[in-house]
Amino acid sequence: MVYNPEGRCIRVPAHPGYAPPRQACARTFQVKERYNLVYVCLGEPEKDLVAFPEWDKPAYHCYLAGPYFICSNGYRAIENFLDVAHFPFIHGGILGDLDRPEIEDYEVVINEDGLFAKNIRVWQPDPYGTGVGDFVIYDYWAFRPLTAYLRKYSPNGDCLTLLYNVASVSEEECIAWMSGSLNYAHSISDEKIRAFQDKIVLQDLNNLESHFPKKLPLNVPLEFHVPSDRSTLMYRKWLKQLGITYGIL
Ligand SMILES: [Fe+2]
Repeated sequence: MVYNPEGRCIRVPAHPGYAPPRQACARTFQVKERYNLVYVCLGEPEKDLVAFPEWDKPAYHCYLAGPYFICSNGYRAIENFLDVAHFPFIHGGILGDLDRPEIEDYEVVINEDGLFAKNIRVWQPDPYGTGVGDFVIYDYWAFRPLTAYLRKYSPNGDCLTLLYNVASVSEEECIAWMSGSLNYAHSISDEKIRAFQDKIVLQDLNNLESHFPKKLPLNVPLEFHVPSDRSTLMYRKWLKQLGITYGIL
């Protein structure tokens, strides 16, 4: 069957002369293709898709990783993406060091564009691939409840960005995609970059999927927090302000 953009069947290949009746139609949705993904809006989109400014810049090596099927609430997946304190414990030797787990205080702001946290200094064991540890800086944005973005950069100019798109499958399951960009290591193949990304995400999933309750406890005091949780605490505050109830306790 061939359909027009309004969803009407306009041709049946097996019957070239056949004129499909008006009731031969499919339900239509607004669709956009961007960052090697197809975005579908099940209702009326309130905003355009989130910008990923590095995607078309030649200085950046861009790639898509995923999909990752996660037995976790989508908001918990975003919280995990926004969190830096877990690096030494979940990604030890790669993104963090158990001997340097301290996180300095940082500021988180909520405004009409969402939530953002800037200048979070994190010690990493090998940020440049030289075997020498150093501090890197993370900036985070949650532009939508299930779309977040981070920029990690170093004083030497190396910059990595990730756009994290999460789609809820149910209140306790989601699928995630990660679009990434690097302004360094242009000779590394997409395959190797994706394998690295898969390894990091798998480490996260082993932790994330063990969190209970599965739903996010916004209205019940089931979890306690420390100052380095500020980004996730503010994220929860923002979800509450938005009046989100799906997947929420
Ligand atoms: Fe992680």
